[in-house]
Amino acid sequence: MKNEGIQPTTTMEKIVSLAKRRGFIFANSEIYGGLNSCWDYGPLGVELKNNVKRAWWKRVVQQRDDMVGLDAGILMHPRVWEASGHVEGFTDPLVDCKSCRQRFRADHITGDKCPECGGELTEPRKFNLMFRTHLGPVEEEAAVVYLRPETAQGIFVNFLNILNSTRKKIPFGVAQIGKAFRNEITPGNFTFRTREFEQMEIEYFVQPGTDEELFEHWVKERFNWYISLGINPERLRIREHDQDELAHYAKKCCDIEYLFPMGWSELEGIANRTDFDLRRHSESSGVQMDYFHQETGERFFPYVIEPSAGADRATLCFLLDAYHEEPDKDEIRVVLRFHPEIAPIKVAVLPLSRKEPLVAMAQEIRSELGRHWLTAYDDAKSIGRRYRRQDEIGTPYCVTVDFESLEDQAVTIRDRDSMEQIRVPVAEMVTVLREKLGAPGF
Ligand code: GAP
Repeated sequence: MKNEGIQPTTTMEKIVSLAKRRGFIFANSEIYGGLNSCWDYGPLGVELKNNVKRAWWKRVVQQRDDMVGLDAGILMHPRVWEASGHVEGFTDPLVDCKSCRQRFRADHITGDKCPECGGELTEPRKFNLMFRTHLGPVEEEAAVVYLRPETAQGIFVNFLNILNSTRKKIPFGVAQIGKAFRNEITPGNFTFRTREFEQMEIEYFVQPGTDEELFEHWVKERFNWYISLGINPERLRIREHDQDELAHYAKKCCDIEYLFPMGWSELEGIANRTDFDLRRHSESSGVQMDYFHQETGERFFPYVIEPSAGADRATLCFLLDAYHEEPDKDEIRVVLRFHPEIAPIKVAVLPLSRKEPLVAMAQEIRSELGRHWLTAYDDAKSIGRRYRRQDEIGTPYCVTVDFESLEDQAVTIRDRDSMEQIRVPVAEMVTVLREKLGAPGF
């Protein structure tokens, strides 16, 4: 087994602490004591997460002929959630302790006593995970709407609009990135499970009969995407769901799992949703949502292959997998070895001194590099300390401007991973960095 003996890169505590210290992720509403399991992305975190979403979008929409994008609303007609089965079925069984009043998921408890105080538990009750709110100023039942618990339904209800406006032929897919909300009973493990999160979902419409082959295609494609962006394949594995684990709509489901600090856990799910959703929305809305195959003259409901990833969970995975600690003289060097495409900042400009005319040259270099990549400029403390600061946030290259640069019009480029340094003429700096980074700038 290729995964045998492999360990998580680090503990969640270390990542939470680094994320706060360096501005990746902060506790939400922290000055008020925080809001349980809600997080905010700081200056570096928003760049990191945007890079993850951009890399996904590029790969699954822009580099394929058979995919288009969509950005549907978070609020949808309440009947969407009746048709999808979420009003009835999107529930977890809950029990309450009659003594200490704590609440637990019934399926997380063994025995019939409270795991905290040994008190008596209530009978399990169903708890719907959808957040409810009201549309309009009067809180009447008719105006109840839900915050979407998945982005998928926005794609299904727009199936005909997309088909008619793009004239796509199956197999084709629709991708969407957006917020989803679930009133999770057991959120936790940092941004792994939260109540507000972002999904990156694909609904890929296929002819029934071709679904099994295309399902396998998407499992491989999605697995390879993580590896192409630097995730260690030994910390990834595919787990097929048992029959009794399958969601009400699924014929088959495979999870891509990552070895998080708390153990192997779902990073992304790929499901064969059959024709469940289009059929249900047809029946419920009265609008015929089947597909007319022009070559064969057949009408049918396409099957749907759904690779569904979490943008926050993927970002956490990239953050964790990049984390390395290595001995450096008497200290420990902490390095985030992000793939260049994922790294929040691509290049840092470090002038050796704060004296003129060095500063003017360094700032000119920074503005030249800033036209191509997100850059940082750091002139505080020793050069060694500054390299460490960039290592810790995963900046792939540092460009150092020293007094010799004024004479020879050359700079030093220092590699984050090997720590090797090369001297490069300023005139060639962008070309050399472009070759090394091999990544889009913005
Ligand atoms: N449309 C199918 C669907 O929503 P899911 O397995 O419930 O399937 C898909 O969710 C992905 O969304 C998960 O693999 C995970 O990455 C992310 N996700 C789900 N619930 C989440 C939560 N509470 N917090 C963070 N990410 C979540």
